[in-house]
Amino acid sequence: MQRFSALSTRLAALLCSLAGLLILAGCSLNIEGKQSALDPKGPVAQNQYDIFIITLIVTVFLFITVGGALGWTMWKFRLRKGDDPRYIPPQTHGHPLIEIGLVAGSAALLVVIAIPTFGGILLKKNVPLHLVEDAIEVNVVGYQWWWAFEYPEHGFYTANEFVIPAGRAVKLNLRTRDVLHSFWVPKLAGKVDLIAGQTNFMWIKADEPGYFYGQCAEFCGDSHAYMLFRVIAKPEAEYRRWVRDQQRQTANLNPDTGPLYAPLLARDQWAYPEDKVLRGAEVFARACASCHSLNPASQTNGPNLAHFATRTTIAAGWMENEPDELFRWIREPDKVKPGNFMWTGFLRYNPETRTREVEMAGLDYYDLSDNEIEAVVAYLYTLR
Ligand code: CUA
Repeated sequence: MQRFSALSTRLAALLCSLAGLLILAGCSLNIEGKQSALDPKGPVAQNQYDIFIITLIVTVFLFITVGGALGWTMWKFRLRKGDDPRYIPPQTHGHPLIEIGLVAGSAALLVVIAIPTFGGILLKKNVPLHLVEDAIEVNVVGYQWWWAFEYPEHGFYTANEFVIPAGRAVKLNLRTRDVLHSFWVPKLAGKVDLIAGQTNFMWIKADEPGYFYGQCAEFCGDSHAYMLFRVIAKPEAEYRRWVRDQQRQTANLNPDTGPLYAPLLARDQWAYPEDKVLRGAEVFARACASCHSLNPASQTNGPNLAHFATRTTIAAGWMENEPDELFRWIREPDKVKPGNFMWTGFLRYNPETRTREVEMAGLDYYDLSDNEIEAVVAYLYTLR
């Protein structure tokens, strides 16, 4: 009985530590999970998945043959009853056939892994010829802790959600405005780092329309874990409509033609009372506009919000784009995403006074009332 309980304690400890390991590694056993690299949906991810499977087969084969030979030897030549424990069997040294065979076998296995790996490196570096003609180009810039996407061929910016045409290759030029980040959409391609002072290249293609989850995969400060994004692959016609929509202005940016930032959406389509929306535009002008551009053609310190109401998420993919969530995000951004600049603003070190001075104020400084925040929420949902 005692022996049994000792065994079950050990077993329980083993299971607990295995479960702990899975949790620590953030593992999900769901292969089709949101961010599973084991569920490729495009050629780059498929190629990397294939290389993974080949490598896995080779290493499992090695594990079984080497581990099996070791186990069999240990079992066959174990110390038996009556054996003299001090006896050392005659030692042999060198067996040309076995030694050459093992070296050649190991080399052959490495070649089996190396050929598809080199193929994968080449694929990753350049869009294949049959896809290059139709390819679009997007400039990706990482900021602490969000993403800017520029469509240079169409002259607009968007943030944290980027739409691509399904079935076409997308060339990505990756840059960072501050520290290291890493661009990762597991179902479309492996991660590529964004490194200061250089432009890194990658390309992706979604075979079918879909909604893909992306994540910064390089530790980049306080809110690294909240630096998410989405890739939305749309059918060709829908993509073209989306591009035309994104090029439109959604707020009045010319004070000569009416109140600054007044929404351009027809009034009967506003989901909130008129006075609230217009008050929101005023608050936006005072507290938000210095960081958030409403002109789709320009990028400032914060995410471009020209088409805010058309996005599915807010706070760089961390929350759903819903009024309650948006209210909370504007009210206490420091609690939603610790360290973020929407709250603290941007500081600059002044060497003369040896202090850090506010260069651009954050919401901590403006201290908006709940009424003002509600007005901004109402206003933002007219930007579609
Ligand atoms: Cu950006 Cu981690």
